Amino acid sequence: MESLSKVASNMSKFYRLNPIKLGCEVRGIDLKTENRPEVIEEIKKDVTAHRILVFKDQGIISGNRHVEISCWFGELESTFYKHPKSPHPDVFRVSNDSREGCTGVGRTGWHIDGSFQPAPFAYSLYHMVTVPKQGNTVFAPLNELIEGLPSAKRKEWERLWMLSDRRSGPIHPLIYPHPLTGKKTMCFHLGMTSDYLWDYGTPKERIATEEEFDRINKDIHYEFVKDDGKIQYSHKWEEGDFIISDNLAVAHEASPETQHKRDSVGLRVLHRTTIKGTAPPAK
Ligand SMILES: [Fe+2]
Repeated sequence: MESLSKVASNMSKFYRLNPIKLGCEVRGIDLKTENRPEVIEEIKKDVTAHRILVFKDQGIISGNRHVEISCWFGELESTFYKHPKSPHPDVFRVSNDSREGCTGVGRTGWHIDGSFQPAPFAYSLYHMVTVPKQGNTVFAPLNELIEGLPSAKRKEWERLWMLSDRRSGPIHPLIYPHPLTGKKTMCFHLGMTSDYLWDYGTPKERIATEEEFDRINKDIHYEFVKDDGKIQYSHKWEEGDFIISDNLAVAHEASPETQHKRDSVGLRVLHRTTIKGTAPPAK
């Protein structure tokens, strides 16, 4: 079935899709000028089907245009610190030089974006404006990760809920069905969780002990790195890359090299927008 869907998707009328380890590369389209509704609809469908689209050779996409493309997917939600060099108030500017953008971003462990909101961000859109020699962004498919869990761990995780340490401290199920595909996915953030709850909303509900909290975090981390990180897709950025990800279906982490100094790897400037989630994760 998978190869059939790949063949079908490669026959897109509007652009070429080339499957990669997680998602597809997209060629033959210029995001700077594309506005046809039928093309936008196809891109949205392909983001849901493939989870990550890497648009190649897009040149430099302005802050305004980045925001316009983002609006295809819904309402922007811009919860970050506004760096003075950001090209638009809705564009999060990340860098390895604090004069150019926010540093240390994405380095607190595997996560999805926006788990501190009542509904996590539905999509993230990334554009690497200045490409360093090193500094990959690493993604991993959450449905495959869940499906690959040993059954005891899967049972345990199905009972767990996460409590965010930010904002209003929403409580989310660790495992829940993706709102568009119905496939099991995860809501989590290894660096921004204050507690886990067992059996939330039932008579057996209780907060995980400190020991359990540490073990759960370690267990989650382990699933991303086991077998030499076989489940990961490490994206080596190239000039002109523009990535649209289904933030609810894939987890990510910035590699340690993203923090390497400008003097050693060159300047890194990444622009990111995030789209408001419309459905709070529910069992
Ligand atoms: Fe992130």
